[in-house]
Amino acid sequence: MAARKRGVTKQSPPPAAESHLKSPESAVASTEPKITPAKPTKILFFSLIFFLPYFYLIFYHYRIETELKRSILINASLSFAGFFVTLMMIPVASRYVIRRNLFGYDINKKGTPQGLIKVPESLGIVVGTVFLVVAILFQYFNFTSDSNWLVEYNAALASVCFMILLGFVDDVLDIPWRVKLLLPSIAALPLLMAYAGHTTIMIPKPLVEYVGTEILDLALYGLLAVFCTNSINIHAGINGLEVGQTVVIAFAILIHNIMQIGVSPNPETKQAHAFSIYLVQPLLATSLALLSYNWYPSSVFVGDTYTYFAGMTMAVVGILGHYSETLLIFFLPQIINFLLSLPQLAGIIPCPRHRLPRFDPQTGLLTGTKDGTLVNVSLRIFGRRSEKSLCILLLVLQVRSFAFCIFIRMLKL
Ligand code: UD1
Ligand code: MG
Repeated sequence: MAARKRGVTKQSPPPAAESHLKSPESAVASTEPKITPAKPTKILFFSLIFFLPYFYLIFYHYRIETELKRSILINASLSFAGFFVTLMMIPVASRYVIRRNLFGYDINKKGTPQGLIKVPESLGIVVGTVFLVVAILFQYFNFTSDSNWLVEYNAALASVCFMILLGFVDDVLDIPWRVKLLLPSIAALPLLMAYAGHTTIMIPKPLVEYVGTEILDLALYGLLAVFCTNSINIHAGINGLEVGQTVVIAFAILIHNIMQIGVSPNPETKQAHAFSIYLVQPLLATSLALLSYNWYPSSVFVGDTYTYFAGMTMAVVGILGHYSETLLIFFLPQIINFLLSLPQLAGIIPCPRHRLPRFDPQTGLLTGTKDGTLVNVSLRIFGRRSEKSLCILLLVLQVRSFAFCIFIRMLKL
């Protein structure tokens, strides 16, 4: 959305609660851009919950070919470097975006001094750029012999790059909601046109006769891209939720990929899942750096640049890795949120600009509203709670859908 507009006209600073009124000097100081230090140690520490099983599966549990393991580790090292670059670049970029009036106010702090701070928007632009640099550089170390993979890899990068551009355009120009729903289908074009694989999605027979399998495949994958991007974008508005859900899904994808590489005898399948790892590791590393700033209390907002970029990256790996159904299970909370949102998205029930909970500045707790989102429904079911604890609750739900998926996979294997 147009943070510039939001900063200048639409979103005037929310009125502070009586008890928090400040002197004019301190009010000016409070509207100065303030980037509170990142929390990378805390974020990396909690990430160990996922990193440990991931590395256990790579190094001990499965016998993975040395060559493949080497490529994964090179990619992991580049991604780790990307983590530090993103960590360093976010404060720098924050100053620039604030200067250009790209900022938002934290709605869930309205009525407190924190609600008066201009929070820099669209920091997804840093994450997306570092991701692309890492993914492009990685080609130097891999993909030398297989030109087919090179074509698909670069088509995937073109789609992600196109999506970052359109996401940033949306952040700056405030594109109407129904138009921006369709942006991902345009960004997915480079990948869909280059896509040479075969589908594993079951299509009803009468439909196949009518339009042909290839067109249907492309349409379904286009829809997947539209779903992944928008579903991340509308499951949002709580500090840490946009990036947190991406981090959990990215870990789920990595673990799923390693399990498939470990059990599959087919080199083609292994290659498809390795390809997916090469894109998801940089996504995860750069997102963890962003989460260090976006975790409660957020010192930066991610913008639609990030939500679209993250959704598109996960959609392209699902498409090229041939596991779009599994990907959809990882997106279970997003599917529930989408279904809850349908009446408002379809215009049957009025849809306000922000469908966020009600914040009580006296208690610091959030209460669920009638808006159809998982955030509001969770608050209504589990009771009022703080923003941080609500985010943790929703991320635990995300982890559960991954655990459910692994359980089903284990039953099948
Ligand atoms: C989507 C949702 C909207 C939700 C918004 C929050 C739909 C149809 N749209 O809109 O209901 O309110 O995301 O991201 O479901 N913000 C916070 N705290 C945060 C994150 C964001 O207060 O932790 C606010 C800030 O004012 C920020 C703004 O949300 O500037 C960003 O909103 P934006 O991403 O532009 O909204 P949409 O994606 O259009
Ligand atoms: Mg958004």
